[in-house]
Amino acid sequence: MLTDRQILDVRSHFPLLREKTYLYNCSQGALSDAVHGALMDYAQSWRRSMDPWRDWVGAYEALRAEFARFIGAEPDEVAIVTSASAGINPIANAMDFSKRNRVVLGEYEFPTMGHIWLAQRPRGAEIQFLKGVGDSLPLDLYERSIDERTCVVPLTQVSFVNGFRADVAGITKIAHERGALVFLDGYQDCGTRPMNVKALDVDFFVTGTLKYLLGPPGLGFLYVRRSLVETLTPTLTSWMAQRDVFAFDTQHLDPAPAARRFEGGTPPIPNIYMALAALQFLQQIGMENVAAQVEHLTHGFVAGAQKLGVSSKTPADTVGPLVVLRSRDAGAMVVRLAARGIALSARRDGVRFAFHVYNTMEDVETALQSLAENLDLMVRE
Ligand SMILES: Cc1ncc(COP(=O)(O)O)c(C=O)c1O
Repeated sequence: MLTDRQILDVRSHFPLLREKTYLYNCSQGALSDAVHGALMDYAQSWRRSMDPWRDWVGAYEALRAEFARFIGAEPDEVAIVTSASAGINPIANAMDFSKRNRVVLGEYEFPTMGHIWLAQRPRGAEIQFLKGVGDSLPLDLYERSIDERTCVVPLTQVSFVNGFRADVAGITKIAHERGALVFLDGYQDCGTRPMNVKALDVDFFVTGTLKYLLGPPGLGFLYVRRSLVETLTPTLTSWMAQRDVFAFDTQHLDPAPAARRFEGGTPPIPNIYMALAALQFLQQIGMENVAAQVEHLTHGFVAGAQKLGVSSKTPADTVGPLVVLRSRDAGAMVVRLAARGIALSARRDGVRFAFHVYNTMEDVETALQSLAENLDLMVRE
């Protein structure tokens, strides 16, 4: 666990934190000087170089290797994409629904996960949404729903709408016993704790950089288990997804024998520069340290909200990073607290408090104090 002095040091790299209580991390992480510097480096390379793509291709492959390390995968299992949707789509579109056609997913998935699989219905997919029970999706719901007709289980690691954390290991075990694949969406978790896709044994993993990875919008990652890569031939493809990109062979389709086969066209180089700096910044802090700080703050906040009698959508035993409290008018609450310099976000009837390593117990106290002064907008227990 980091000391207070070390947390202050981390905070000193984020100019915004000098002025604001920033709990907006589930929507967008704050900008560090490291990431800002990387954007400037990109601009310089463009301004100065006679052959900038030489540097840029190097950065693109360096990012692939860095992210692979970050999640315990191999670089050839990682595709660099421009959003989570751009990672999910080529897999969904490559899937064969002729033998197994059922897609089983919970109602707390991010909308894009629902939409992409629903769009596969004309190709034969049958989509089953599991209904939550009091803001949770117990394991036995999956136990009862996954069967020999199930081809894939899309799964949000932490839900954007209520902070519910899925039992990834339990669900994956059930899915695999019944021959189904698991597609984990880690967007609301990745960057807040150590991640190892091999230990979790998931088949696909998608995330993006703009939230807890403290990077920019317009960049995501898709992990595909090595043994699955060549069993899936993408119908959404590009020249950058081919075995030999620089063959410039317009008349032959020859997908790369690596996860790169799922990539779109020219990669977003400015975002790649920034994402590389962001990943290195987090790794320097240490992901165990990040997780410990997020858990510490979450526990403090949940205990304070309970004392105030505010109803929570997130289970009380949560370790974070997202705590969602019920509000009579979540949008109005966000506007009120923004006027006091507290950055939050709203989804449906929930106000979202999202903690990261750069937040402090003072932030927690500031948020609780503002809650106490605005209880008229909150739902009480
Ligand atoms: C769980 C989850 N998945 C995916 C996304 C975003 O998807 P995309 O990168 O396709 O916009 C979000 C963004 O809020 C999210 O919370």
